Amino acid sequence: MTIKFFRNARVYTPRTGETPASGTAQAHIDQWPKGCFLVMNGRVTAVGTERDVRESLAAEALRMDREPKEYDLDGAAVIPGFVDPHTHACFAAKREEEFSMRLAGKSYLDILRAGGGILSSVRHVRSASEDELFRFSRRLLETTLHYGTTTIEVKSGYGLNTDTELKMLRVIRRLGLETPQSVVPTFMGAHAVPEEYRSHPDDYTALLLNEMLPAVAWQHIARFCDVFCEEGVFSVEQSRAILHKAREVGLRVKMHADEVHDLGGAALAGEVRAASAEHLLAASDAGIDALARGGVVAVLLPATAYSLKKPFARARTMIEKGAPVALATDLNPGSCFCESMPFVVSLAVMGMDLTPEEALVGATLNAAWAIGMEREVGSLEPGKLADFIVLDGESPAVLAYASGSRPIRSVWKRGEKVA
Ligand code: NIG
Ligand code: FE
Repeated sequence: MTIKFFRNARVYTPRTGETPASGTAQAHIDQWPKGCFLVMNGRVTAVGTERDVRESLAAEALRMDREPKEYDLDGAAVIPGFVDPHTHACFAAKREEEFSMRLAGKSYLDILRAGGGILSSVRHVRSASEDELFRFSRRLLETTLHYGTTTIEVKSGYGLNTDTELKMLRVIRRLGLETPQSVVPTFMGAHAVPEEYRSHPDDYTALLLNEMLPAVAWQHIARFCDVFCEEGVFSVEQSRAILHKAREVGLRVKMHADEVHDLGGAALAGEVRAASAEHLLAASDAGIDALARGGVVAVLLPATAYSLKKPFARARTMIEKGAPVALATDLNPGSCFCESMPFVVSLAVMGMDLTPEEALVGATLNAAWAIGMEREVGSLEPGKLADFIVLDGESPAVLAYASGSRPIRSVWKRGEKVA
């Protein structure tokens, strides 16, 4: 086992509390301008000033009778690896033609109603072999890693029948085993109503409740269940039933809530104490209050608003009302083909008025809370995985300052350089 000693860094990290960071805590970042940290066996064992860390280094080196390997980071800023808590990064083809239709004025939901959108990805995923699906998705994850994402949630939801949903979840599990990233799998059979159930959609909800959820739970192949609660997709009542059943079979729950219309999705997320409510472009004040009361993480996807040409979610109101805010790419072939967390952070700062510190907490620690990974990742603290990014700059603000480029020198996962 090697001891790695990273020194001469400007270290910026959130600090894990009892709950996700909300209100003024959303901006709390520990900083060491001449910082360093120690990594053993892929985990952080100490972080702080050179003097403090050298003390634990001496103790560890003596105890283990090993010479530490030293890395001089040349004064660069170091932040925790990004945690991307909302992606649909398991698909088999892009949908560029649909993007052109949207640019020409067709709405996202109209395209879905006409059998395109998510349903077109369903056709591709159903006909792809498991290997093809894996290879396509692995390329997506490689790009996200290059942009600093060291932990990623990936949803199923382009299968919409039991066999194909399970195929997607097996591919997502394999992504976790065969890429450097930590991958959190979410079952999203409730992503759309498949074409074969269009005339009798309630039977699809029944299939979700009686066949798909029990099968997913039995195979222990997903950690969360997500529902697209939206006009013409799943109603609040259907979503409630699906989320209750998911809980009952042992999955944690999250929701796509109030993305296009305010159906009361955020209120439902608060009611069922979901880990997170995501999108929230149309969330009402009452919905935001429900998130704050329920300690539900508001996962915001500014690159989706940008790609759909919609106003951004009301992040400032959420922070003022005490709802913890996280950021994610939403990487998917339709509403938002975005692989870059730096771009998301930069949109959050420039478009939603978050401070760089608030955005950093949103893209790391609060994102980890949204996917139940807050004990493992999301900050540089003793005991957590040594996942970090060496920035090409002096502070996290460089992510917004160098908007549209990649101000990253290197990306590290479990103490190993991976990009
Ligand atoms: O988060 N809103 C629903 N699901 C995705 C889009 C999926 C797709 O268009 O393929 C989203 O925006
Ligand atoms: Fe989504």
